[in-house]
Amino acid sequence: MYDRFNRKINYLRISVTDRCNLRCVYCMPAEGVPLMPHNHILSFEEIVDFTKNAVADGVDKVRITGGEPLVRHDIVELVKKLAAIEGIKDLSMTTNGTLLPKYAKQLKDAGLMRVNISLDSINPQRFREITRVGNLEDVLAGIAAAKEAKLFPIKINCVIKKSNLEPDAVSVAEFCAANQLEIRYIHEMDLESGSFSKVEGGDGGNCKNCNRLRLTANGDVMPCLFSEIAFNVRKLGTKQSIEQSLKYKPRSGTSNHSGRFNSIGG
Ligand code: 5AD
Ligand code: SF4
Repeated sequence: MYDRFNRKINYLRISVTDRCNLRCVYCMPAEGVPLMPHNHILSFEEIVDFTKNAVADGVDKVRITGGEPLVRHDIVELVKKLAAIEGIKDLSMTTNGTLLPKYAKQLKDAGLMRVNISLDSINPQRFREITRVGNLEDVLAGIAAAKEAKLFPIKINCVIKKSNLEPDAVSVAEFCAANQLEIRYIHEMDLESGSFSKVEGGDGGNCKNCNRLRLTANGDVMPCLFSEIAFNVRKLGTKQSIEQSLKYKPRSGTSNHSGRFNSIGG
């Protein structure tokens, strides 16, 4: 499928939950965020139905995100259902890694191909400060489990404030180099102000080549991370929500004031 600027849309990011077991300072306030009511959260059937339609329209790359996707009940079952859809060439997940010791092998067996794991410092104290409640050793065990399960290539998402020469980022880069992991730096966006904007040189700044569509946990189809435009799949149905998203996908994003970043999945 193509949008009105003739960009080919082949990448779907699915947020399967707005919940998370960590409280990263750049993502959430300490007390967490108001959560979506459970009955607003899409069922597996709804997610799979949407994805089937998107794949029929040309999506061949799917990423599962959150919140933290591994806190969603029966996530392995969902992965199985998504992996069974013919036409997905790349099925991946972005996770904080803490639950991978439990799930990595099951996910691989279910058909997940690879994972991106968030890791912002390799110093245990700094890791705790950044995540407020997390234990570095859980993530390290998660990375080891992902390796063991061969969820390759394993990429490490590292949020930086200004530069990749910050001590935390350097520590992660060294860890990655020593462990055959690919590092990806993500510029921190300021959510304090209630809005976030494109970061120059950041991951989301490449509007000209944007190939993405997002499905949030409550069924909002969002054509752009940097805009509040959304079409709900329960309200409009799958086909209409996709069609409208293509039609209204902006040429380039500006800012999003909805304060929903953590539930859109980055
Ligand atoms: N700025 C940039 N990235 C963020 N993420 C969450 N909050 C922010 C933010 N304020 C991204 C990080 C993290 C992933 C789960 O979401 O990349 O690794
Ligand atoms: Fe959870 Fe990821 Fe947000 Fe950290 S950044 S609180 S791990 S969703």
